[in-house]
Amino acid sequence: MVFYILPDKNHVEKEKKYMMKISASLLACNLAQLALEISKCKKSGVDWVHFDVMDGVFVDQITYGSPVLKTVRSSTDMFLDVHLMVEDPTKQIKLFADAGADLITIHVESFCNISEVLKDIKSRGKKAALAIKPLTPIEAVYPYLHLCDMVLVMTVEPGYGGQMFIPETVEKISALRKVTDNLGMKDFDIQVDGGINEKTAVTAKEAGANVLAVGTTLFKADNMKAVCDELKKSV
Ligand code: DX5
Ligand code: ZN
Repeated sequence: MVFYILPDKNHVEKEKKYMMKISASLLACNLAQLALEISKCKKSGVDWVHFDVMDGVFVDQITYGSPVLKTVRSSTDMFLDVHLMVEDPTKQIKLFADAGADLITIHVESFCNISEVLKDIKSRGKKAALAIKPLTPIEAVYPYLHLCDMVLVMTVEPGYGGQMFIPETVEKISALRKVTDNLGMKDFDIQVDGGINEKTAVTAKEAGANVLAVGTTLFKADNMKAVCDELKKSV
């Protein structure tokens, strides 16, 4: 007699839901070799490219803008995840959408009409997301969840790469996952950004994050693929 074991549908759904994605933060790469670094990411199993835009006002540093994203777009077919750390993102949406962004994240702390800017991103056929700084209560993003594909929970103060993960941010991740689950938002992405390594990735994943923005840990590794495999291991 032959027995067939049918796959447990709930199990498959759960696996799918929490499939980890890695978004490589270019801030930590060798910018003089940008195209090469991105192709190394792709070969190593990285899913997205994380493009940190800083304006020198919302945060101290100034990094790069839409013209640089355009050159990145011309060098890769990878998913481009743009994180706007700018005081007023309103005028940037068209520029980054036209330059080839796939997802645009604005900060809930920025000075703009949050709903209108999120709608603008969506109307251009791009994914929209809200980011939140470590000291801002997670409740600040709840009124906008219906307009978002993702929330980015900052696990360091925005502005610099290479900082230490702030443990107090973990409960914000779990609270948010509980809310999106209760709302039936099954494919909702929660990204964590800042200080992610093999250890903090496990903490973030257990709390409900499914997208890891990773800079230093990836680009300073001797073997990027091995680090990528380790970070992607499900909890
Ligand atoms: C910080 C940026 C992060 C950061 C991540 O303001 O948003 O994306 O560069 O870098 P690591 O992984 O080095 O903390
Ligand atoms: Zn970022």
